[in-house]
Amino acid sequence: MSSNTANPASKPRAELAARTAVLRQAAQSAVEYLEKLDSRPVAPTPEAAAALATLGGPLPESSAASSEVVRLLSEVGGPATMAISGGRFFGFVIGGCLPAAMAAGWLVNTWDQNAGLWVATPVAAGLEATAVEWAREMLNLPEETACGVVTGATVANFTALAAARHQLLERAGWDVEADGLFGAPELRVVVGEEAHPSLLKSLAMLGLGSKRVVLVPADRQGRMRADALPHLDERTILCLQAGNVNTGSFDPAAAICPEARAAGAWIHVDGAFGLWAAASRQYAHLVKGFELADSWATDAHKWPNLGYDCGLAFVRDSAALRTAMTLRAAYLERGVRREPSDYTPELSRRARGIELWAGLRQLGRSGMAEVVERTCRHAQRFAAGLKAAGYEILNEVVLNQVLVSFGPAEKTTRVITRLQEEGTCWVGPTVWQGKTAMRISISSWVTSEEDVEQSLAAMLRVAGESG
Ligand SMILES: Cc1ncc(COP(=O)(O)O)c(C=O)c1O
Repeated sequence: MSSNTANPASKPRAELAARTAVLRQAAQSAVEYLEKLDSRPVAPTPEAAAALATLGGPLPESSAASSEVVRLLSEVGGPATMAISGGRFFGFVIGGCLPAAMAAGWLVNTWDQNAGLWVATPVAAGLEATAVEWAREMLNLPEETACGVVTGATVANFTALAAARHQLLERAGWDVEADGLFGAPELRVVVGEEAHPSLLKSLAMLGLGSKRVVLVPADRQGRMRADALPHLDERTILCLQAGNVNTGSFDPAAAICPEARAAGAWIHVDGAFGLWAAASRQYAHLVKGFELADSWATDAHKWPNLGYDCGLAFVRDSAALRTAMTLRAAYLERGVRREPSDYTPELSRRARGIELWAGLRQLGRSGMAEVVERTCRHAQRFAAGLKAAGYEILNEVVLNQVLVSFGPAEKTTRVITRLQEEGTCWVGPTVWQGKTAMRISISSWVTSEEDVEQSLAAMLRVAGESG
């Protein structure tokens, strides 16, 4: 029988001693992972994915040493990762993770703070309060705007739209938080036909329905057509988009927002990545007019490269957001400062505001502008290189997204599959207005000119070999 079992009181002490060693082991393993990233295929090999089965099986009866758990993760889990922290991952709209945000994440896990209330953790509440102000300034949103720090744009849309629902129903004399939607005055939700599905999911979760929205036709770039807007009034939530996931294009906010505001509609913006164009003088014209909205959802884990997960729900009317989100209980001691959980669906949550603070502190306004401009330059280079080789670019490349067709749908699909297997880079498929396309989304701070040239060469080679 081990001494730990003989004397249970000594077990925590033994584990505390092992903790320092396992953290060093994890740090070493993380550094080695990053160092090898550039020379491995971007997607994991089928063998690496299959090996994950060795981490499965029935619930273990006995405990394991923490060092053994971390060894298993490094040796079996690491090779089964997608190399998202490298420079040649162009799938979805996924950024990398800036060094300051990544290291801050390690500290956040070590500090183990519950970010719900100031009294529970001044560092999380204090840095989050600063970080959301910095983000608001970077996005050029009105000064009075409040912000909840959530997991991503889906939840940011949900949170901001809960504030919209509250406000419009309160104006109609209805307390939706108390009485729900049964018998409530009807709200109308107006959405562009190329809105992201996560916006519709948010509407569904709020009881506003994903199918009963009024759809506004879009143009060939996926922009809502200002000339096709329906009647708007004080019972309308109008949802605009800043940055279409396929084309990168923006709804014409400058043409739509003044009229919508005058009609008393609540204007919500899904700007998961596109809103960050505001940080760059070169691209800020794209977000003109969106500052007139009432609420905005965006992601810090996309273009700002602050690591997973971090979404931001901005609402101009702070009281509307707080009324929709606040929870009270006698044991939850409240101070006079900003309480993080007054702005989010969750009470307990990880202190992602600290990573937000660290990443924005590293970037500054100029760093964010540089990431926007460099990734957009890379998009232009991809588009020019593919077009010069005779392939069709399906979108106007206004931002960091490129859609390319290699000809018939089967050929485009074949090129994507072969590229994913070949491993130089990773790109995904989409269908844009009936045409199968390969999506190239350049969102990572890591991507260099060499990464672009290497990936472009692989795309042209694979397309040439794919008949
Ligand atoms: C326009 C838009 N809205 C919402 C989302 C959902 O974001 P998240 O995955 O962070 O919830 C995305 C994801 O790409 C998006 O592009």
